[in-house]
Amino acid sequence: MAEAAGGKAQAPEFDDEFRRRFRDLLAWRRDVRHFRPDPLPSGLLERLLTDAELAPSVGLSQPWRFVIVEDAERRAAIIDNFTTANAAALADQTLAGQGENYAKLKLAGLLDAPVHLAVFAVPDPDQGKGLGRRTMPETVDYSVAIAIHTLWLVARAHDIGLGWVSILEPETIPAALNVPAEWHFIAYLCLGYPVSEEPSPELERAGWERRRAAAEHWLRR
Ligand SMILES: Cc1cc2nc3c(=O)[nH]c(=O)nc-3n(C[C@H](O)[C@H](O)[C@H](O)COP(=O)(O)O)c2cc1C
Repeated sequence: MAEAAGGKAQAPEFDDEFRRRFRDLLAWRRDVRHFRPDPLPSGLLERLLTDAELAPSVGLSQPWRFVIVEDAERRAAIIDNFTTANAAALADQTLAGQGENYAKLKLAGLLDAPVHLAVFAVPDPDQGKGLGRRTMPETVDYSVAIAIHTLWLVARAHDIGLGWVSILEPETIPAALNVPAEWHFIAYLCLGYPVSEEPSPELERAGWERRRAAAEHWLRR
């Protein structure tokens, strides 16, 4: 970061060109389920995770914990978990008349993604000294979700795709990954180079759902 006279860091200027490029980043971030098997270059995952730490957090508590899942047996346990949870989801969707469409969706890239990352929240962290969460303890989980989104954008800026897998039974995950039982499981992420770059959500392209116009979500009182 540039330093101005007197040692104070000088704030960068974000111009129209940057804003245009930043919007491109937002628009071309995708949830990725199709990965090339190529590994990430050495040090890149650590760089992405370091940048994700710049996310805001309640009380500056940094309550996120990223578990890089490398062990084949632990990965297999998560894949089993997904297979079971997805079968149950398919049964529910079938009852709701959507089974045939649901069965066609690819909802995780667990078998081909070179990086598996489990993300947890420390529910009552010392860091932050409780600030901001006395009445809303769930802000710890919100902080972790924001860090994941930060990681998602930073990864995309490095041409790395990220897929969020939530079709999982969370209770058994801390034990499967040998982390403290009280940690709250937030997400299981797959990362790697995407097979293709896409301008629209895969669920939209598959005809499952469509993105609504922004103004449909605004209220004024
Ligand atoms: C909290 C959360 C959980 C998600 N879980 C899954 C999942 O289990 N499987 C999946 O294929 N996509 C999952 N997604 C991705 C969404 O389907 C995706 O973000 C949405 O369809 C919009 O597509 P886009 O991210 O490419 O813009 C999840 C996204 C979020 C934010």
